[in-house]
Amino acid sequence: MTYYQKFHVPAGTFQVDARKPLVLQAYLNSCVGVALFDPEAGVAGLYHILLPEPVSGKTEYNREKYASTGLPLFLGRLVREGADISRLQAVIAGGALAGKVSNQDIRLDIGGRTAEVVKEVLGKHGIQVLLSETGGFFTCCLNFNLETFEYEVIPALLSEDTQPDEETNGRISCLDDIQPIPQVALKILRMIGEDSYGIQNLSQEVRKDQVISAQVLKHCNSAVFAGKGGIDSIDDALLIIGQTTLAKIVTAMAVKKLLNNSYTGYSLTKGGLYHHAIGVALVAEKIAALCGKASPFAAYSAGLTHDLGKVVLDQFVSGARPFFYREIMGENDLVETENRLLKTNHTKAGFKLARKWELPSSIINTIRHHHAPEEAEEHLELVTIVSVSDTLFHMFSAGPSLHKVDMNSLSRRLELLGMSISDFPAIVDAIPHQVLSGSPELAIT
Ligand SMILES: [Fe+2]
Ligand SMILES: [Fe+2]
Repeated sequence: MTYYQKFHVPAGTFQVDARKPLVLQAYLNSCVGVALFDPEAGVAGLYHILLPEPVSGKTEYNREKYASTGLPLFLGRLVREGADISRLQAVIAGGALAGKVSNQDIRLDIGGRTAEVVKEVLGKHGIQVLLSETGGFFTCCLNFNLETFEYEVIPALLSEDTQPDEETNGRISCLDDIQPIPQVALKILRMIGEDSYGIQNLSQEVRKDQVISAQVLKHCNSAVFAGKGGIDSIDDALLIIGQTTLAKIVTAMAVKKLLNNSYTGYSLTKGGLYHHAIGVALVAEKIAALCGKASPFAAYSAGLTHDLGKVVLDQFVSGARPFFYREIMGENDLVETENRLLKTNHTKAGFKLARKWELPSSIINTIRHHHAPEEAEEHLELVTIVSVSDTLFHMFSAGPSLHKVDMNSLSRRLELLGMSISDFPAIVDAIPHQVLSGSPELAIT
């Protein structure tokens, strides 16, 4: 059996190439994936589409996010690479409803509308659709082999793209085995608890940790100066990017080490837990700014840390992986499945870890209640913001963190934040484009 390297096409982007030994891949929940190929010219591409069309009234937007504006770009690129539109063939997948059918789902049937727009555009160009597997309720994976031009649409739970099980040698992960995040990050996170968020001595603190300092400078240089250098001290960084952004980068780097250390039981992609954390953090920050119910930085920090408990349980989940996937990708709730299989769940494990680390109560409450924010006795609005962000981010970036999306409570939760389903497109539109790409942390700066 030939082994092919896989290229994960992030949401809101496309990849076009000539024949080569590579498999293009997209994990699709409510997003729609379209593979277009011209076998004669040996040119093909895969497009991972987020939404049907731009939100009305918005003048600046990323055209690749939307089927109506991105498909012409995709087609243009294929033609430039040598494809002939009259010879193109198509495979369409995704557009899941992401939950049980209800009135709300129908209103939120973004995936279905995206698939419609795709079919309309392809029809207009007379492009033959060989396979169309849209709708349904599950995350699927569209694979397109750039060498053989073979394609497949499979349920995500059967995908073999997960890392092989690592030998645990019987070592059982417990709270004490989790290496704490660096002091400076803990300090920043704790400062959120004190209302005066003024990190006067931030650069002094960051400088004390050489590893974090080096990572922060590397990040700033790649994000601000495209890798050409320019920022060579933490003081420079502070001056150029400001103290809030510096604090965001420091905490992200700290969490990255922790999340990337873990196994892959909860994620379908490498580095998925970290990607998910950054994504939820940035979406939470935007929602907090839109609704004004929490400080955006507090929402960012709570979003970044909400799934810390998965680090604790990951090793157990890894051991029971195929069964675990099947359970959570079916009709079962993640927390219930964890309770049944592991006799605990990631919200409880994370709660214990966060208390042990003496994180602020806003973060502890978010970790504990983000799957049922209604139960939070403190910081209800903040917990709700992170919960909604978790749901939304999962809808558009399904691979990094596995769990079934609960759409039923979304409307009620948005209401609590003074928002409604009609604000939904504006929220989705506010998601920074890089969050969905392979380098989500670039969206922080
Ligand atoms: Fe979670
Ligand atoms: Fe999550």
